Amino acid sequence: MKILAISGSLRPGSANTSLLHAAATLISEGIELTIYEGLANLPHFNPELDGEVPPISVNNWRKQLRESDGLIICTPEYAYGMPGVLKNALDWIVSSGELVGKPVAAISASPSEFGGANAHASLLLTLTALAANIVLGASLSVPFVSKKLNTKGELTDPDTAQLLRFVLDALVAAIKVQPDAAERLL
Ligand SMILES: Cc1cc2nc3c(=O)[nH]c(=O)nc-3n(C[C@H](O)[C@H](O)[C@H](O)COP(=O)(O)O)c2cc1C
Repeated sequence: MKILAISGSLRPGSANTSLLHAAATLISEGIELTIYEGLANLPHFNPELDGEVPPISVNNWRKQLRESDGLIICTPEYAYGMPGVLKNALDWIVSSGELVGKPVAAISASPSEFGGANAHASLLLTLTALAANIVLGASLSVPFVSKKLNTKGELTDPDTAQLLRFVLDALVAAIKVQPDAAERLL
């Protein structure tokens, strides 16, 4: 089973990316969790660039999505919404359909007490537009995230680790009952 993890932050010291690294250590053995590294390389979405030969970075993004059985998206909040770079990446797959029926875990994290709840809501709205399978029980907002990581970005809060385990378990369970891509497109 392959899970692609996408952080909505481009910062090297990102708390959201740190949570995904923590998820990689918490996930059951035998499940491959890969963190997507290409967010910053995607061009600004322009449907007219999306002809017979889309940009290489876009092809690569779509390929990694097709090859994964499920996704975890972990997003910060900027100005009450998800970051533009994450929305941009999702805009590139509206017409190509890689997320149709695909199980997705949606997480937000913020230093604020609300845990990026607005970004979480905006992410869910876009995932709904993409017809993703938003997994019940695999949604989480992490408040006060900076207090839950040490200076190396390691998750030190046992409650958040437990919540992440629940998210991962719910995602893996949804993937196991998911029809494969060919069936989804029938
Ligand atoms: C310009 C700017 C706007 C922000 N707006 C919000 C916001 O609306 N809500 C919020 O909870 N945090 C907001 N933040 C704080 C970010 O959530 C915080 O910097 C977070 O750690 C970024 O995520 P990262 O550590 O994964 O990069 C903002 C930060 C910046 C720099």
